Amino acid sequence: MLKRFALLTLAIVLAVALLPQLADNSSTAVAQDEEVWCGTDEEVTVTLIAGSVGQEGEIARQQLDRWAEVCPNVSVDLVARPDSATETLGQYQQFFEAESSEIDVYQIDVIWPGILAEHLVDLNEYLDEEVVEAHFPAIIQNNTVDGRLVGIPWFTDAGLLYYRTDLLEKYELDPPETWTELEEAARTIQEGERAEGNEDFWGFVWQGNAYEGLTCDALEWQFSSGGGEIITPDGVIEVNNPETIAIFEQASGWVGDISPEGVTTFMEEDARGVWQAGNAAFMRNWPYAYSLGQAEDSAIAGLFDVKELPGAEPGMSAATLGGWQLAVSRYSENVEPAVALAAFLASPEEQKMRAIDGSYNPTIADLYEDEDILEAAPFFGSLYDVFINAVPRPSTVAAEQYNDVSQLYYTAVHSILTGEADAQTAMEDLELQLADLGFEFPEE
Ligand code: GLC
Repeated sequence: MLKRFALLTLAIVLAVALLPQLADNSSTAVAQDEEVWCGTDEEVTVTLIAGSVGQEGEIARQQLDRWAEVCPNVSVDLVARPDSATETLGQYQQFFEAESSEIDVYQIDVIWPGILAEHLVDLNEYLDEEVVEAHFPAIIQNNTVDGRLVGIPWFTDAGLLYYRTDLLEKYELDPPETWTELEEAARTIQEGERAEGNEDFWGFVWQGNAYEGLTCDALEWQFSSGGGEIITPDGVIEVNNPETIAIFEQASGWVGDISPEGVTTFMEEDARGVWQAGNAAFMRNWPYAYSLGQAEDSAIAGLFDVKELPGAEPGMSAATLGGWQLAVSRYSENVEPAVALAAFLASPEEQKMRAIDGSYNPTIADLYEDEDILEAAPFFGSLYDVFINAVPRPSTVAAEQYNDVSQLYYTAVHSILTGEADAQTAMEDLELQLADLGFEFPEE
């Protein structure tokens, strides 16, 4: 990979030397790479805190090797954030409360700009407009708080249904379009595989722990059943309705039936562990699991595909919008090299490598037509609409209250999944709790 990058850099250097007119063409991806901006000529060290879910850490390290080639004076220390988004936010808030300069660049979740904006640098002050405008406008808008751009998009995410093509064929089943079809197919395959001796086999694995990931899964169930979006962009509460109550009851029935009892403690990597060992027919997960599942050491390489998640009726599918940005701390003592590093890591060339090596969704529309990317991850093309239409969590309307909203929501859903509460009571209580935070009751 280093070699590919070196070749690219060489080609660019040659192009610039041979065709001087290219030098002022600043609107192309290539132009950005003509001279990577390092932010300083001095020797400095910046610290980046980023994820290590799946191969995330390894891919970031490869990116940092490429950075070291172009900006050897800016060394980077990579610190791993916790796998749980919820725990990560708690940790970041401690750094920010202390106005700590320890971390310069933070990988922040798509739902956090409103919560963290006051601690982050306005990237508009440092980045060229072309660099910013290359990204999906909706994500730039999401990351802009009071006119300040607080994060440069690194990758986007949307929930997908992973399914075993070999097992659907074996049991003569079609990929499910509805939650009930999924439930039935999962049960058929689970019974069949267990009867053949695989006692560890499960129908459907997903993220059921009480954390941000459950907010994502549950919003998909709810929205794809016509139950609304937790809180509308206008601040109206949408949880206590028959569609939402019905799908949450249905999901609670999966626990211990088609999904392991322990699914209520699962995060992304727990689900992937069962799935990638060949012990599940279906999995709900983000795109990163694709590349890992197709790798040589995977038990299911070549035996699965991805599609949009089911809905209450065919065509009602919904995917929660996820994704991560790179942000620079206001308390950093090296703001310029920190911004330069963030811009490099999120550049088109780097997003391309991440898409090919790790199936991380680019945040730049053009890359969805890139042949090398489509060869490595064909679903970036076939499921483009899913990514474009992914349903956001109510983080813009809730702003700094978003984490409270999400915590109330996933706690309520978790209590239904574990059987502590029935869905109707849990949703009535949740509605009152969200109203206490200042959101409006829906009209009767
Ligand atoms: C993924 C998504 C992120 C979400 C998290 C929940 O990392 O990209 O937006 O909050 O999963 O577990």
